[in-house]
Amino acid sequence: MRKIRKYGDPVLRKKSEEVKDIDEKLIKLINSMKETLMDRKGVGLAAVQIGVLKRIFIAYNPEVEKLITVINPEIVETQGEEIDMEGCLSFPEIYFSIKRASKTVVKGYNEDGKEIIVEGKGILSRCFQHEIDHLDGTLIIDYATEEEKKFWKEKLENLKNDS
Ligand code: CO
Repeated sequence: MRKIRKYGDPVLRKKSEEVKDIDEKLIKLINSMKETLMDRKGVGLAAVQIGVLKRIFIAYNPEVEKLITVINPEIVETQGEEIDMEGCLSFPEIYFSIKRASKTVVKGYNEDGKEIIVEGKGILSRCFQHEIDHLDGTLIIDYATEEEKKFWKEKLENLKNDS
């Protein structure tokens, strides 16, 4: 299990780098991301959230109760839009209302280095967009209105002071 970096930690604002080789070290990293995500009962986790600047995310697909790992993910198609409350393990107990595509198709590689195409609808679509944002240093607060930021002001400041 690894410590999750919280809002205020400068690493969360950095751009993650493409993965070049899938070696033993990378598999270990992915396994610890899976353990961390399951332990925290999250929907998704990007490597940067445990302080590793590599383009990898893990998502939990509730429909089939399985974890999905995507290395070097890219959004290749989106459809529709929906607004919903969205949280993040780097922003515990804070939620913002965010508009996202209701369907997202992501291309990338799995742990065996095979090219994969995964499709997400609803929560999973939201999760894919959220995790790919992390890889570019974008966070849920970047979508927040001034009102929402004011509403969560105290919690946000506490987080910043703790990290
Ligand atoms: Co997040």
